[in-house]
Amino acid sequence: MLTVVDEYTEFCRHVKTRTGLDLTAYKRGQMERRIRALVERTGVQTLDAYWQILARNDDALHVFLDRVTINVSEFYRNPEKFVELREHYLPTLLRQGGTPFNIWSAGCSFGAEAYTLASIMEDHFPQTRYHVWATDVDLGVLAKARQGRYGPEDVRNVPAETLGRHLERDGDYWRVAPPLRRSVEFARHDLLTDPFPHGVDLILCRNVVIYFTDETKARLFTRFTAALRPGGVLLIGSTERIANAAALGLSSPHPFFYRKEASATHR
Ligand SMILES: C[S@@+](CC[C@H](N)C(=O)[O-])C[C@H]1O[C@@H](n2cnc3c(N)ncnc32)[C@H](O)[C@@H]1O
Repeated sequence: MLTVVDEYTEFCRHVKTRTGLDLTAYKRGQMERRIRALVERTGVQTLDAYWQILARNDDALHVFLDRVTINVSEFYRNPEKFVELREHYLPTLLRQGGTPFNIWSAGCSFGAEAYTLASIMEDHFPQTRYHVWATDVDLGVLAKARQGRYGPEDVRNVPAETLGRHLERDGDYWRVAPPLRRSVEFARHDLLTDPFPHGVDLILCRNVVIYFTDETKARLFTRFTAALRPGGVLLIGSTERIANAAALGLSSPHPFFYRKEASATHR
């Protein structure tokens, strides 16, 4: 049988070989539109011509990777979810959890979500030894995360007392205070290809899987469930849903929160 490889598929193959990023796992419509807009802006006509540029120019390749892995984020994104987390989920999780209490911010972008979690732990559960592992595929956002310097828009939802305690003024910007910076470990991790940890107490993976195909999403939710310890909780983005939650052994006490049942098969 003859397989026709179209220009887009061929482009994805080059990107995968060179960078490891599998663009075919992302929804094609929106990804291809985004890439073609970049092609147009570069002033070339075809994806192949665009690839010739990326292959020879590391800076252009980094700009490209930055654009395709959309990294919009902010501190306390959807603030009501952090109230539910703090009041309803964390007290129970901490009673059952191990030491240290392990949190994973998967697809953490420039770190706002991870620092939000650390500031909640510091302010509301000061006796708890915890570890936030914050991962992303994009090295550019991870560098920004480690730097911990944010604009006024990034911190607009941060409660006033937290702002004063964990973020220090730096002109018009805010800098994460060193103790909070030390409590988060940033690492490059590709959700599509790298191994997942085990026995995690709490996972946040929000506004990441929306860009993936349904098949990839399903595979990731299975892997996240396996990464949780029994009783552990997964919080997903506020436009997302796990269609087969019960089959995975997850219950959903509140929208977007999923708890791994003790009897779940993925342990
Ligand atoms: C829209 S941001 C979400 C940030 C944060 N979770 C939030 O909700 O504010 C999506 C992040 O997912 C990351 N991402 C995309 N594909 C990924 C992959 N294959 N593995 C790990 N992270 C990925 C992007 O680099 C980007 O930083």
